[in-house]
Amino acid sequence: MENNHQKIIFSGAQPTGSLTLGNYIGAIQNWKALEKDYQCLYSIVDLHSLTVRQDPKEFQKTCLSFLVQYLACGLDPEKNILFFQSHVPQHTELSWILNCYTYLGELNRMTQFKEKSQKNKDNINSGLYSYPVLQAADILLYQTNIVPVGEDQKQHLELCRDIALRFNQAHGDTFAIPEHRIPKVGARIMSLQEPDKKMSKSDDNVNGTIFLMDTEDIILKKMKRAVTDSENKVLYSDEQPGIKNLITIYSTVGNISIEEVVKKYDGKGYGAFKKELAEVIIEGLRPFKEKYQDYMNNMDFVETVYKRGAERATEIAERTMKEVRSKVGLLTK
Ligand code: AMP
Ligand code: TRP
Repeated sequence: MENNHQKIIFSGAQPTGSLTLGNYIGAIQNWKALEKDYQCLYSIVDLHSLTVRQDPKEFQKTCLSFLVQYLACGLDPEKNILFFQSHVPQHTELSWILNCYTYLGELNRMTQFKEKSQKNKDNINSGLYSYPVLQAADILLYQTNIVPVGEDQKQHLELCRDIALRFNQAHGDTFAIPEHRIPKVGARIMSLQEPDKKMSKSDDNVNGTIFLMDTEDIILKKMKRAVTDSENKVLYSDEQPGIKNLITIYSTVGNISIEEVVKKYDGKGYGAFKKELAEVIIEGLRPFKEKYQDYMNNMDFVETVYKRGAERATEIAERTMKEVRSKVGLLTK
């Protein structure tokens, strides 16, 4: 391991669509804060995305664009190991073995599977079903201690821990048992249009989602259209879920506390609040946009990042796989 005393962090995101403000606040912003104190691995989990049909040419572009978006969010490729899941075949190898330690009853309970099979009724494939097992393999390969992801991934994380404990019990300590880390504020950024639904890359209503790549005009428009309520008071309360969500976004992107946001807009209406929030987001995303262009113009560098990332990840993953193969009784070549 790069540093034996450092705790290991692993997280991943699927390369589909384009990163959203929800991804940024709920995941990447926190990843960045962790790079100082931990050995972090961040993977673009391209194999997970194949559970839904992808156009091969578009998919390649999206995968690269995702890595560039990570870099543009400020993730340091020296401090962090950034790589594509499919470049480290140990993920699929471990996934198979862990499938044999996972019960159907456990997979049947996964809400993400239920949601996704509702959405893709014509393609409920077995990859979609065993998706959480591949996710468990991603995490366990690296002896991960902490998995920083949004609240929506809690169930998958619990399953991962159960699989790890089951394997350890059968074969002796093999995997570290990972902990879930959810950000205190912003764990669940909601849709601007339907504040009871998570802001998502794949929402049919694009007005509900702010993408990191959105232009300033679009951000302003989406903000103006954001659903609020009739109170016209900037208050942080469950009764006003639309406004509550906007305050959360303001607080996390603008780097000020919820209380300060509420105080700042005391006595002011929604119009002013939304307009200024759009400005906060536009300003907050400016460095991202600039860096994105710089990296896109320097694809040679981007290539070295993911090749080196795969090398570093493989080294750690292979160490775990050697132990797993031997523990389950597979012969060495
Ligand atoms: P996904 O976009 O579903 O591939 O998720 C990538 C990462 O971003 C995961 O860690 C999610 O938990 C997190 N995430 C996605 N959407 C949101 C959201 N609306 N609010 C907070 N975190 C999110
Ligand atoms: N399932 C996660 C999501 O939809 C993505 C993911 C795959 C992941 N493997 C992972 C997240 C490992 C954390 C750790 O967001």
